[in-house]
Amino acid sequence: MQIGFLGTGGIAAPMVEALAGKGHKILVSERSADISARLAAQFDEVSVASNEQVVSGSEVVIACLMADVAPKVLSDLPFREGQKLISVMVDVSVETLRRLVAPATDISVTIPMPFIAKGGCPLPVYPDTGSVQALFGAENIILPVKSEAALNAHFAALALSSVILAEMLTTADWLAGVTGDEAKAEAYVAALIAGYFKGMRFDGSGEVKTLLDALSTEGGLNATLRDRMQGAREELTEGLDAFRPRLGLPEV
Ligand SMILES: NC(=O)c1ccc[n+]([C@@H]2O[C@H](COP(=O)([O-])OP(=O)(O)OC[C@H]3O[C@@H](n4cnc5c(N)ncnc54)[C@H](OP(=O)(O)O)[C@@H]3O)[C@@H](O)[C@H]2O)c1
Repeated sequence: MQIGFLGTGGIAAPMVEALAGKGHKILVSERSADISARLAAQFDEVSVASNEQVVSGSEVVIACLMADVAPKVLSDLPFREGQKLISVMVDVSVETLRRLVAPATDISVTIPMPFIAKGGCPLPVYPDTGSVQALFGAENIILPVKSEAALNAHFAALALSSVILAEMLTTADWLAGVTGDEAKAEAYVAALIAGYFKGMRFDGSGEVKTLLDALSTEGGLNATLRDRMQGAREELTEGLDAFRPRLGLPEV
């Protein structure tokens, strides 16, 4: 397939890496010169092109622009009927995209994370036109959702990532304070948490609750610390709710 990237920054690069070596021809826009040049040098099938060439030469265009420049950039480009667009842009609605890339109508929005380069990335999609599945489905977890609000709620949920990493760091720092060995403390905490996720099926069958139940012996260290931190989980829900107006989600 001929695939084009508009914007060659922090998220475009790992998406190109995810698609490389699979028989596609990939055009990347001549921006972020260091990144586009690196990708073209690294992969035979990647070429650097103008935005116009990216759109005219691609069956699927993947828009990886910041929201503030997207309207100006997209509205000037020669999109055509039957062309597919995948947007990964936060804060650019489906309605706006339809207007900007007409007469192209096959539009999907998804939320990749940089680790898509290695696969295993959860990709919520709305609307689901099949493009995301076709390009990324073999190595990643495609999760079509029912509405734009449902998609946007995933932007809130992904903010959990840094909360968990921050808690891991706090625990490693505390551990190093006792052991005096920062490197081993970090290694221990990272491997401990990674170990819990190894082999998970990510099929929504309740594995998270099963793992948690297994760590719930009354009076045990896990249950004791968790009970003490109940307030933090209430704050987590409040923090997620605080994103509702910004993300256009219904109020509770
Ligand atoms: N980073 C993530 O983990 C992530 C995850 C999910 C979604 N997203 C979304 O992806 C989008 C891009 O994020 P990012 O982190 O990749 O940002 P970024 O690193 O700043 O990349 C933006 C890219 O757009 C290029 N650009 C600016 N003006 C352009 C123009 N007129 N024509 C073509 N390209 C132009 C920039 O080039 P120059 O460097 O030359 O200005 C840069 O290559 C955002 O909407 C963000 O919300 C990001």
